[in-house]
Amino acid sequence: MIFAANFKTNHTRASTKKYIETLNQKLTDSECKEEVYVFPPFTALDTFDTTIKMGAQNGYPVRNGAFTGEIGVEQLEEFGIKTILIGHSERREILGESQERVAKKFSFFQENGFEIIYCIGEPLEVREQGDEAVTSHLLAQFEGIDTAYEKLIIAYEPIWAIGTGRSATVEEIRSTHKVLKQSVDKPLLYGGSVNVKNIQEILSIENVDGVLVGSASLDAENFYQLMKK
Ligand code: PGA
Repeated sequence: MIFAANFKTNHTRASTKKYIETLNQKLTDSECKEEVYVFPPFTALDTFDTTIKMGAQNGYPVRNGAFTGEIGVEQLEEFGIKTILIGHSERREILGESQERVAKKFSFFQENGFEIIYCIGEPLEVREQGDEAVTSHLLAQFEGIDTAYEKLIIAYEPIWAIGTGRSATVEEIRSTHKVLKQSVDKPLLYGGSVNVKNIQEILSIENVDGVLVGSASLDAENFYQLMKK
């Protein structure tokens, strides 16, 4: 199973260092075989002595150049970062990333050999229109994306379930993951209010290969508990 922690705009450089040390110790002591990823904020990127895969929450599709406030491949490579999140709904919705921009970013990081966790998800008004509307909304988010890319992991995150404490139901996850797997045969994560209470149920659903976790990943012990359930 894959367990990915997305810190978003949380944690500092100092607290991330402590977090990685704590989590790494727990994973080592328990001989944990899960695939664990952590996506800290840019300012906390570093070379950590750990089996945890460190990734970037974002990146600008350039090696370097004049792009004030952005980070390119050169800056990520300094810390050995070769994994990136692309298409997260917060970037699509709050930062205004269009599908075209997301696809351009995807191609660039693909060309640079990055492992990509590509996020898709529907807003509540689409979910309320029923399964067909959800499917077409989600499949449209594969536009311009090379879904055959060998280093691709998909994360299905219904927007209405992110940070709301309201996870999708087992049936919603089961049916959506089934449809997605039929279109794209890649590891498929679920994300959206995953926590210690619902983790067991979510991981037991067919076609769920892991989870992308925000709030419940912010504490190292709590995140580790998800793997122990
Ligand atoms: P959440 O966030 O676990 O806080 O709902 C998930 C995500 O945005 O990846």
